[in-house]
Amino acid sequence: MSASLSSHTQDVVSHYTRRHTERGDLFGNQPFANYGYWTRDGLSLEQASEALTELVAATAGLAPGDAVLDVGCGYGAGAVVYAKRCRPASITGIDVTPVRIEEGHRYVASHGLSDLITLGLGNATAMDFADASFDKLVSVECAFHFDTRVAFLREAARVLKPGGTLALTDMIPRRGVDPAAYLRGEKTVNSGVVLDNAGNAYDADVYVQHLREAGFTDIRIDSIVDWTRARFVEALHGVAARAGGEKGEAILRSARRIQQFIDLGEDYVLVAARKAR
Ligand SMILES: C[S@@+](CC[C@H](N)C(=O)[O-])C[C@H]1O[C@@H](n2cnc3c(N)ncnc32)[C@H](O)[C@@H]1O
Repeated sequence: MSASLSSHTQDVVSHYTRRHTERGDLFGNQPFANYGYWTRDGLSLEQASEALTELVAATAGLAPGDAVLDVGCGYGAGAVVYAKRCRPASITGIDVTPVRIEEGHRYVASHGLSDLITLGLGNATAMDFADASFDKLVSVECAFHFDTRVAFLREAARVLKPGGTLALTDMIPRRGVDPAAYLRGEKTVNSGVVLDNAGNAYDADVYVQHLREAGFTDIRIDSIVDWTRARFVEALHGVAARAGGEKGEAILRSARRIQQFIDLGEDYVLVAARKAR
């Protein structure tokens, strides 16, 4: 597959491959890779990530019997939560980073869910599924990477059944933020690698337009940054203080970097839409 990946997507794969060895044990026993949804005080990173997964499941209306597609499934932690809480008929997860799928197979098997959950390598913008294959499509914290988000939305509309629902969490510039300045800032704070695709730097109003053009209706985009990234930064300060030493310093540097993204005008949004019937 890598031969057909754009250079942006290859950069994303290199980033997440490097991250694999740097992750440590921040997320406890569940291999999540997201900022979490901080619904109350005292949550661990792992519990907050689980809460974010539940929010996305509820937004998509995941229900028993559904055929679910999880795009950018990472290590499969979300798929396992969907399987246990919502009892769908099947969950298919795709991710573009090979090590995440390899580890994901082991994680799913360790929960005895290999019959229900199928993980595989795949690219969000060129999916290997027949038209109208899924009832629900979920994607947590990935679409800002895709090359491009518009190409993904077209694919999402193609693989969803008429009336099927889409629920994503995503990152976009807030209304009124200059996209060019925002991308220059992203480049600086990410040591030369732009993980947010330049073609995706538009606000919620433009995003709604792209969803409509792809064939979606009943669209909602809500900012949840105060309950996700902002609270994650606070939580990292606590983790850093407990870790101390060099490890604590490294965690603090990550916290400062994420705060810079927020200060640059990056919003964290929950997106819901339905494929037209
Ligand atoms: C922040 S992680 C989120 C992982 C997972 N959804 C979670 O919540 O733990 C972003 C994921 O998007 C995946 N990704 C990025 N670009 C992709 C693409 N074009 N197609 C499929 N997956 C992609 C990355 O490999 C990575 O696993």
